[in-house]
Parts: sequence; C-alpha cells; structure tokens
Amino acid sequence: MVGSAVCRRLADSDSAVVTATRNELDLRDPGACAEFFSSTRPDVVIFAAARVGGILANSTYPVEFLSDNLTMALNAINAAFESGVQRFLFLGSTCIYPRECEQPIREDALLTGPLEPTNEAYALAKIAGLKLCQFYRHQHGVVYHSAMPTNLYGPGDNYHPQHSHVLPALIRRFHEAKIADAPSVVIWGSGTPRREFLYVDDLADAIVHLIGLDDPPDWVNVGTGVDQTIAELAELIAATVGFRGTIETDPTKPDGTPVKCSDVTRLNRLGWKHRVSLAEGIERTYQAFLAETGAGHLRSV
Ligand SMILES: NC(=O)c1ccc[n+]([C@@H]2O[C@H](COP(=O)([O-])OP(=O)(O)OC[C@H]3O[C@@H](n4cnc5c(N)ncnc54)[C@H](OP(=O)(O)O)[C@@H]3O)[C@@H](O)[C@H]2O)c1
Repeated sequence: MVGSAVCRRLADSDSAVVTATRNELDLRDPGACAEFFSSTRPDVVIFAAARVGGILANSTYPVEFLSDNLTMALNAINAAFESGVQRFLFLGSTCIYPRECEQPIREDALLTGPLEPTNEAYALAKIAGLKLCQFYRHQHGVVYHSAMPTNLYGPGDNYHPQHSHVLPALIRRFHEAKIADAPSVVIWGSGTPRREFLYVDDLADAIVHLIGLDDPPDWVNVGTGVDQTIAELAELIAATVGFRGTIETDPTKPDGTPVKCSDVTRLNRLGWKHRVSLAEGIERTYQAFLAETGAGHLRSV
C-alpha cells in the first residue's frame, strides 16, 4: 500500500524510480540485496517493505514477525550503505512506541517503557531498523532516517475479514451489509476508543517532503494529530457507503487502549501538514475498494 502510494506521488516528478516486488527481490536474502543495490545504485532508498499484519497474525507468528522484519531491515540498510547510498528513509510506525506512553505520542517517548505485547515482535524489529539508521548516520555521516506513520488507509489496503485493520474492515462490512440489505451492523467494543488515521497518499507526500530536507530528525511522527472515536468512524463509513441500517456496539469485545494519537508538532514545524480529511480519504478509499472489487483484485490476504 505505501510503496504504491510513493510511486503515485513520484510519477509526475523527474525522479527515475526503481522498484522491486518480493518476487523480484526477497529482502531476507543478503546476497540478493547486495546484488540489487550494487546493480541499481540508487541515490535515495525508501524502504516500504515489511511483514505486516493485525493482532491475530502478530500473536500467532511472533518468530516470523521479528525474524523477517529484522532480517529485511538489516539486509537492506547494510547493502544500501555498502553500495554507497547516502540517503535512506526507513518506515517505523507509531505502534512501536511504549504501550502506556503519554498522549498525544511524542517522538521522545520511544524506548521509555514496555511495548504492547500483541505487537512486540514487530516493534522490536522496527526499533532495531530505526536505530541502525540512526547509528549509521552518526557513525558514517550518511542521512539515514525514519518516518513513524500512524494508522494508514487508502488504495491497495488489505480487506481480509480477520486480518485487516479497523478502517478497511468496516468499509467491507458496511458495503456487504448494504448489498445484503442487512438491518444492522455490529462493531466490536464500546465504540469509544479514539484513533487517528492518515490517508496513504498524504504519507507518500510527507515522505517526499522528508527526503527533501537537508537535516531531517532521526525519526518523526507522520499523522494528522486528529483523532475520533471508533463509533464516529463507523458512522462516517456507513454514510459514505450508503448503509441505512443501525450501528450497534458489542461491549463484550475488547476496546484496546482508550486513546491513541500522535503529536505532529515536529512534522508541522518542518513544513508539512496533512491535506486529505478523513471524510475525503474514506470517500476515495471506498471508490478504490469498488474499483478493486470490480476488477477482481481486492486484496484479502
Ligand atoms: N498500514 C499501516 O497502517 C501502517 C502504519 C504504520 C506503518 N506502516 C509501515 O509502512 C510500511 C509499509 O506498510 P504497508 O501497509 O504498505 O504494507 P504492505 O501493503 O503489506 O506492503 C509491504 C510490502 O512488503 C513486501 N514484503 C514482505 N516481505 C518481503 C520480503 N521478504 N522481501 C521483499 N518484500 C517483502 C510485501 O510483499 P507481499 O505483498 O508479496 O507480501 C508488500 O509488498 C511497513 O514498514 C509498515 O510497518 C504501515
């Protein structure tokens, strides 16, 4: 999802973009990484690959989430440096901050407390990648730095019934309920937790902004700084999809942390602010969902 958004963002620029899918380059293979970087010799690397997944996948496969993500990050960062790459942007995530950190989450909260157990393996790998970039920068003077996106959504998202994130999951459920003329949709939990969402094309724009800065911070949050309740999110999605039934909550299901929102002061001071409102982003995402469904390639893995 992120890699495609970055390519869309760069399509009109004069940058020559080199991409690699997993089939073309398995980043767990150090030899393949070294060969790729030495043959392509990029000026800038935007590292958007990762093994990603929801709570279920993370807690079922912690070995793969730590091992694959750590190996991919080590291989890519080391091979980039060996081939002379001076600029590397690594993608972290706001979910790698400590579980109980103060809200809104500031960049200096990293490594100040225990991690969220359900994504500990993924977070450890991401923290190692982010730190490796920081250490390369300080030890060797190359500009290797990281962006910490909040929850993302947009074209190319995953709509798997169990493994998807809350926003695409709700788009799919409200769409299917509308088609089936269902009287109601039940959302998990009380609906009161507050969450922040960023449209993926806004992230791509922020990435391009960050790689254009001469002296970017080692890591910077990328979000909107605006949060809303899950119930408000559900109402917005229902209205966009055209679902006219009722929305019910199921308080027997877990809510997770009551508030999660990033502090975007640092990014705003660097001259970047999000452009796409949640309502507009959901409308665009729903249109992409319909197009992907119609073309028979809705992602559901
Ligand atoms: N989505 C979010 O809400 C969110 C929020 C914060 C941060 N991020 C970060 O943003 C980055 C991109 O996430 P995304 O949402 O765009 O995920 P995504 O759509 O799943 O993209 C990840 C890509 O990495 C590829 N990949 C996985 N294992 C690989 C390997 N061994 N070698 C080469 N490529 C491999 C995947 O290929 P396959 O499709 O073949 O598996 C996929 O194309 C990740 O670092 C993620 O942690 C995402």
